[in-house]
Amino acid sequence: MKPAPDRSAEYQVVAPVYDRLIAPLLASEYHKAQILTEHIKAKTVVDLCCGTGVLAKQLATGGFTVTGVDLSVDMLKQARGKHHPNLTFLHANAARTGLPADRFDLAIISMALHEKPADLREQIMLEAKRLITPSGHILLIDYSRPTSLTGRFARMVAEAIERLAGREHHAHYRTFIAAGGLEGLIDRANMVVRACHSFHMGLIKVCLTSTTHP
Ligand SMILES: C[S@@+](CC[C@H](N)C(=O)[O-])C[C@H]1O[C@@H](n2cnc3c(N)ncnc32)[C@H](O)[C@@H]1O
Repeated sequence: MKPAPDRSAEYQVVAPVYDRLIAPLLASEYHKAQILTEHIKAKTVVDLCCGTGVLAKQLATGGFTVTGVDLSVDMLKQARGKHHPNLTFLHANAARTGLPADRFDLAIISMALHEKPADLREQIMLEAKRLITPSGHILLIDYSRPTSLTGRFARMVAEAIERLAGREHHAHYRTFIAAGGLEGLIDRANMVVRACHSFHMGLIKVCLTSTTHP
């Protein structure tokens, strides 16, 4: 397995402002993620690429036991400032966490896969599958490919934001969208969709998936 790309400089700049500028834009998605987590009666959750830990903290406050995993020291520094007895953070590559297999009821990957190269996306999905119990779930939050007029406008805004995030980041976003966005990723990972909800004119979806049919 190739080492994960070093994006530390990118997140060093973003980390101190992430909770004020970016996380609030995802409030509805996080709320839906919490409702779905409650619905499946999950107790243990691993949040892969947890960033500054906003969703992880929200779920811990809601009574779930949450482990957040991230590779950026700067993002984790922000995350570790969000203390909660049910919440722990691990500095690791989400593609190879070193956590025991079959350990969690739910793995979450939120707004992280679109910015990664295709092979790393696949490895993180495999790791998520390894970490969940046989009856466990994977909850994915990421870009979809809306086709409505308003959705296409939202895609132009996303395109501009992803371009600002840097050339490599933008190139990965483009390949993610060209490969079908979140729905394409779910298909290729052979996951079964249990529920999918659209936000921001269909630009972002929150999908609950499992490896088995109900
Ligand atoms: C856009 S942020 C998303 C953060 C959070 N999940 C959210 O919903 O806001 C992407 C995160 O992925 C992390 N990341 C990138 N590559 C990673 C890897 N290989 N393993 C773990 N985390 C990684 C970055 O450090 C960053 O915190």
